[in-house]
Amino acid sequence: MIATKDILVVEADEVTRNALKLLLAQYKYSVNEARSIKESLEKYDVDSFDVIVSDLNLPDGLGTDLIKITNTPVLIMTRYSSIRSAIDTIKMGAADYIAKPFDNNEIIEAVVRLISEKENKKGSFNRNEDQEPPVQGMVGRCPQMMELFRRIRKVAQTSSTALVNGESGTGKELVAKAIHDLSTRKKQEMISVNCAAIPENLIESELFGHEKGAFTGATATRTGLVEAAHGSTLFLDEIGELPLEAQARLLRVLQENEIRKVGSVQSTKVDVRLVAATHRDLKQLVIDGDFREDLYYRINVMTLLIPPLRDRGNDILELAEIKLKRTCSRLEAPTLNFSEGANTAIISYSWPGNVRELENAIERAVVLVEGSEIGEELLAIEAESTIEVRESSSETTSLNENYNEGLSLQEYFQRFVLEHQGFLNETQLAEKLGISRKCLWERRQKFGIPRKKKESA
Ligand SMILES: Nc1ncnc2c1ncn2[C@@H]1O[C@H](COP(=O)(O)OP(=O)(O)OP(=O)(O)O)[C@@H](O)[C@H]1O
Ligand SMILES: [Mg+2]
Repeated sequence: MIATKDILVVEADEVTRNALKLLLAQYKYSVNEARSIKESLEKYDVDSFDVIVSDLNLPDGLGTDLIKITNTPVLIMTRYSSIRSAIDTIKMGAADYIAKPFDNNEIIEAVVRLISEKENKKGSFNRNEDQEPPVQGMVGRCPQMMELFRRIRKVAQTSSTALVNGESGTGKELVAKAIHDLSTRKKQEMISVNCAAIPENLIESELFGHEKGAFTGATATRTGLVEAAHGSTLFLDEIGELPLEAQARLLRVLQENEIRKVGSVQSTKVDVRLVAATHRDLKQLVIDGDFREDLYYRINVMTLLIPPLRDRGNDILELAEIKLKRTCSRLEAPTLNFSEGANTAIISYSWPGNVRELENAIERAVVLVEGSEIGEELLAIEAESTIEVRESSSETTSLNENYNEGLSLQEYFQRFVLEHQGFLNETQLAEKLGISRKCLWERRQKFGIPRKKKESA
């Protein structure tokens, strides 16, 4: 005997719903019904159905939202006039779609097909969920990236603090965005703050706001970014750079869900989901006394580790291909390819600046290339890959001498920064190097020489 198959019909319109119920019952399916997503979730365990047949436009959302919630195949019904969105629904992972008004045979055929597909996959029909990136445009198939995608989905369903850890340029911001976009807070914009980019003396007031007169220059009361993220997600990038006093205030936000402006005695309740990111080893910062241990434990609830690009196997080539295509179309260049040598170079290079560095290398090559093939020389990565980072020497040879000695740009940069940061501020350093402050900051990240915190006297 064949077990009856369970179908859930999600449709707000009573006439359509009843028609579907009758039709499916004729074919001996056991049919349950719901008018909305909320009702589906309240009344049933949606994973227990064999197929869900849902209208695209429901009173409380889109039928495609169900796809994100369950592994059960979802058959979406939509009007002819919104066939465009129907095609998008397939991209979103709907098992199939049917145009309304539907033909009875068409519905039954689709249901039969979905059930048999599900059975062929031995009950593990899951739209390759793990293989699908959680955000559009995020490339990756290697096991570490799959695991990351899985974690992103999981974390997004909760409101707990998440820590994104990865080398510079690995996609930390992208991951934070994915968590936000997949969460219930997605309707509000995520607030992003780069802790390393805000001057130390301003960071507390930027984050937590201040009362009028709290300090010289505080001419009016100001709302901080944490409060601005109320009901949404706060992305604190480079949290390892947060000064200790600001860390104390942040801890309070996380522990008490309340915020106190600088110079205020009163607290305000806030509902903020924190996603923090760092390229540093926070544990080590704790040991060194630069990061509060209690805050560390608060933040380190769910950690998402982004693998460095060099550990992602063939993902590197796929990423390079895709980035090349996108760069060509963005720069309105003709379609280009990598030479065999270029592919070899891409695979063997260590990519210390990860995906961002890959993007930059490709963009440079696209701009410089003549002809339709990008050779390895245009990527300008080969030389760098063989250089080992040397300890900075304490010798006081002049910088120009060093550069002429044949040091790589990286070595030159490191030595220059280490030798000058003691008495030049960031703006002066950048000026001397002939680069922007932003570029200086990025290179510091890339070459692993972050800005030193001011020594407390
Ligand atoms: N898996 C990926 N697929 C496609 N693009 C990616 C991926 N990961 C990162 N990128 C791209 O690489 C660039 C760097 O990503 P992102 O800014 O998120 O990294 P990050 O870790 O925050 O970098 P940084 O340390 O420099 O702040 C962005 O342009 C982003 O779109
Ligand atoms: Mg970033």
